[in-house]
Amino acid sequence: MPLIKRFSWLTFAVILSVALVLGISRSSIVSTATNLTAGETSPLLASAFTAPDPSGEFVLPPLAYDYDALEPYIDEQTMMLHHDKHHASYVKNLNDAIADYPELQGKTVETLLQDLETIPEAIRTAVQNNGGGHANHTMFWETMTPDGQSVPSGASAQAIDTQFGDFATFQTAFNTAGKNQFGSGWAWLVINPAGELEITATANQDSPISAGSQPLLGNDVWEHAYYLNYQNKRGDYLDAWWNTVNWDVVNSRYEQAIRL
Ligand SMILES: [Fe+2]
Repeated sequence: MPLIKRFSWLTFAVILSVALVLGISRSSIVSTATNLTAGETSPLLASAFTAPDPSGEFVLPPLAYDYDALEPYIDEQTMMLHHDKHHASYVKNLNDAIADYPELQGKTVETLLQDLETIPEAIRTAVQNNGGGHANHTMFWETMTPDGQSVPSGASAQAIDTQFGDFATFQTAFNTAGKNQFGSGWAWLVINPAGELEITATANQDSPISAGSQPLLGNDVWEHAYYLNYQNKRGDYLDAWWNTVNWDVVNSRYEQAIRL
């Protein structure tokens, strides 16, 4: 084969290979993005992530930042264990719980949590604990960022001032809810069923969704969230955690909720 012809075929093969690789990569990226934004809500909202993937199973959403990105406020090892072990267990246990209930598969975890009384009794507690764990943690990762803003902005900032007087008063009340939650649980800023902003706390992995509220911001006060770095000083963790809050996401959740 003449050299020029061999070169042409080689060139064509290389170009084809590169195109195929790029094509596969792009389609993977598009597919992943489609999965992440599946659902009826803004891609900024946790509920977009808690829909099952096309396989019908819930999946552990990847972190949008590195394990050490929230240091010094939350350490790398805590993030790794918290996301890869604790949250992963909730996802696995939720999938196991509904494995024999095809009528529950394909629903978002929010739908499962909204009316726990409709969940078969045999798996109701498992869905409450592990569905709550999946929803709560998905939102938790999403409402933190290495580029945390110290104060909120937008419509949610105005609403916080209106409801609580000012941001400092709100922060103090939120921290108090977290400190006073006996044992494991969460502190929350929610829109309650009356449509008002409210600070509340839940035990274990109970979700405000099950009480008819829309969570906007939640802090995990289980010891697994802070004990490696803060030991028994939950108050120090609660104070430091504000440095990680992604108020853009909180504001998006608020704007989405008040449009519904
Ligand atoms: Fe947790």
